[in-house]
Amino acid sequence: MTPRFFPYSALALIVCGTVLGAPSDDRGRIIPVVASTTTYGDLIDPGLNRDSCSSTLWANDVLWVCRDTQQAFANGSIGTHLVANTVSLSGLPSAPSNPIQLVLSSPQGYGPIFYAFEADECPQEGCGDGVCGPGICGDGTRWVNAYGFMAKQRLLGLSVVNATGYSLYHVTSQRPGVIPSAKMHINAFWSATQIGYGSAASVVRNGFAYLYGATPDRKLAVARAALTGLLSSLEDHKIYEYYVNGTWARTPPVNTDPTIVLPNTSAVQGTMYWSPKWQSYVWIGGDGFPNANFLISTAPKPEGPWSAPQQFYSGVVGNGTLAAYSAVAHPDLTDGTGNYIFITWTKTHFDVDGIFNVYEQPLVRVDWQ
Ligand SMILES: *[C@@H]1O[C@H](CO)[C@@H](O)[C@H](O)[C@H]1NC(C)=O
Ligand SMILES: *[C@@H]1O[C@H](CO)[C@@H](O)[C@H](O)[C@H]1NC(C)=O
Ligand SMILES: *[C@@H]1O[C@H](CO)[C@@H](O)[C@H](O)[C@H]1NC(C)=O
Ligand SMILES: *[C@@H]1O[C@H](CO)[C@@H](O)[C@H](O)[C@H]1NC(C)=O
Ligand SMILES: *[C@@H]1O[C@H](CO)[C@@H](O)[C@H](O)[C@H]1NC(C)=O
Repeated sequence: MTPRFFPYSALALIVCGTVLGAPSDDRGRIIPVVASTTTYGDLIDPGLNRDSCSSTLWANDVLWVCRDTQQAFANGSIGTHLVANTVSLSGLPSAPSNPIQLVLSSPQGYGPIFYAFEADECPQEGCGDGVCGPGICGDGTRWVNAYGFMAKQRLLGLSVVNATGYSLYHVTSQRPGVIPSAKMHINAFWSATQIGYGSAASVVRNGFAYLYGATPDRKLAVARAALTGLLSSLEDHKIYEYYVNGTWARTPPVNTDPTIVLPNTSAVQGTMYWSPKWQSYVWIGGDGFPNANFLISTAPKPEGPWSAPQQFYSGVVGNGTLAAYSAVAHPDLTDGTGNYIFITWTKTHFDVDGIFNVYEQPLVRVDWQ
């Protein structure tokens, strides 16, 4: 995901470092409590079948980046061609008093890949497992590529067989309402033995972009980049600092360094944001395939200490090949106060031919006490 800006400001009542009214744990970290939830039905994706969509505020629109995209025909069949990632635009969701399904519009039509494949990622059309498309290697494996810092990962089923580093992509806006373009900026910005900082989650606050990446044992490590200009300096390795053994260091650690692991974090797909309401950084993510159980954790600083993740929502799972996955939060769909959040997950069922999975992405608004 590209780092986000929060264009809204909000005041929170703070007395002696405690946010009024919010329950907290023994170390003063907020323990969120759900006040109400509102279901908005599935995201509407006219003519397209795709999974794992994430969102970013983009000029006056919301830019959605989704993963595996196929055509969805009116007769209920799913097309055999697959594009590894595509984008759409939407407005903001309606108020919870009148929940309306959100439409992701794709004026560019079916097809153009957003984050393109590189020369070593089977960029030509290939086929495997009954589908064809760029990134499919013809030996049962395929490359996946979605979300600025991208893992270069080759999948066999759901197993990663090659991870050759992380590339930095640059998304360029043309004008509001027009699908932006993305180009690969620096191939393998992070190497395969480094953390893919920015590929798991990111949050922009107080003049820094905080960039999270997965450690080999599926927890998070964090780096920060002081922002000068409009995120343009992210391509300069010299501006990065890495959280290592309790301090910010200038030398990038190896990904197996045990002192970079942030306690109580998880690298299962998730989202970071800043909550003015709680004066806290917030992580929301899933407990992993095959469930859609949503967990939340809070911390006073980006590096922690993170509270023990608590389950706050359990999404309905599907009856296709993969029951549920990609539990993510969408802070850019909110007003930035932290009073509520939107979440989605992906669930599947089989198409009319019983061949392909149809992806459903329920959208739910969670209001906090
Ligand atoms: C559904 O429509 C598509 C596109 O027109 C076509 O290729 C496919 O064969 C149709 N499937 C069935 C089951 O009729
Ligand atoms: C991917 O991994 C396989 C098995 O480890 C290896 O044979 C192959 O050369 C690797 N491919 C790339 C592009 O790194
Ligand atoms: C980490 O920092 C502590 C002091 O805070 C020090 O005692 C320890 O040796 C450091 N560990 C490593 C691996 O550098
Ligand atoms: C992690 O969570 C546990 C509870 O599961 C808690 O006792 C502990 O303090 C947390 N660790 C940190 C570093 O916050
Ligand atoms: C599977 O789920 C879909 C929708 O999510 C539903 O329409 C269908 O009836 C379910 N099929 C079975 C066999 O339960």
